[in-house]
Amino acid sequence: MKDSKTKIVFNQEVAPACFRMVLSGPLDNFIIKPGQFIMLRLGMSYDPLLRRPFATHRFKTPEGFFLEIFYRVIGYGTHIMSHMLPGAELRLLGPLGKGFKFSDTLSTALIVAGGMGIVPLRGLIYSLAKSGIKNIQIFVGAKSTSQLLFLTEFQRMDIPVHCATEDGSSGYNGLVTELFHRFLDNHAFKADNHTVCFACGPRPMLAETARLSFIYQLPCQVSLESRMACGIGVCLGCAVKLKQQTHHDQDQKKYGRVCLEGPVFDAQEIQW
Ligand SMILES: Cc1cc2nc3c(=O)[nH]c(=O)nc-3n(C[C@H](O)[C@H](O)[C@H](O)COP(=O)(O)OP(=O)(O)OC[C@H]3O[C@@H](n4cnc5c(N)ncnc54)[C@H](O)[C@@H]3O)c2cc1C
Ligand code: FES
Repeated sequence: MKDSKTKIVFNQEVAPACFRMVLSGPLDNFIIKPGQFIMLRLGMSYDPLLRRPFATHRFKTPEGFFLEIFYRVIGYGTHIMSHMLPGAELRLLGPLGKGFKFSDTLSTALIVAGGMGIVPLRGLIYSLAKSGIKNIQIFVGAKSTSQLLFLTEFQRMDIPVHCATEDGSSGYNGLVTELFHRFLDNHAFKADNHTVCFACGPRPMLAETARLSFIYQLPCQVSLESRMACGIGVCLGCAVKLKQQTHHDQDQKKYGRVCLEGPVFDAQEIQW
């Protein structure tokens, strides 16, 4: 984990209230796995005091390595970010947390994303494709077509994308979990050791994906979001309840820190 100084080279709105930010800096040795994240300090003053967590993806051009962030403006910090200009400096802490895992024997990856949840999954999709995983199916949901990200990118990679929008403007009219459920039903889905579901999105969506994977006995990894103060396991502010009980007290639930034990957890580990 490093605390590095980076510079904004690009920061523009790419979809309603959704921005793409590109950072340059000492990134040659900055290796980040899909699902891991960074904490960004949004300026050199103490306002806002806390860093904000974001998924990121490193890419290379002839000019060197860059980090790419896609963020939705939802509050104070992201509003400040959306007004930052190229040349501004940002301190970055990372890579943090534990990412997605998959083995060489994986043959089918079912990706389920809600809203901005597609952002951390995009890096995973690149890794899966690079590792030669033949069958990748992407299920992505958003409120409306304008909020569906990376569709042409995935189509260019020849990966089937199943879309759901809540207003019916693209694909299935409803929730992405309903679409995913239909897929599992229609394919009379039978779990094998070579199929894994990877999901990221709002908590109710993840809870439903976890429920479906349990029914279909499908291994499922979920990337959770939680408000974070430190990002390094110290403040306990990001803890979520896990099902596993401690040895001392059978009624006591165990907690997992999203920033340290997560953000990626086994879906069946979480007390939803
Ligand atoms: C591991 C991880 C990776 C993330 N990756 C991305 C990403 O790639 N792109 C992206 O757009 N966002 C991502 N997020 C969420 C992002 O960190 C928050 O949207 C951001 O911190 C909000 O900051 P803010 O100051 O604008 O909001 P605030 O002003 O602090 O809060 C505004 C509202 O948003 C809610 N909120 C704030 N942070 C979170 C959170 N972490 N989880 C749930 N609700 C929250 C608050 O409760 C409040 O209602 C990620 C979060 C985590 C934990
Ligand atoms: S954010 Fe402090 S322990 Fe996770």
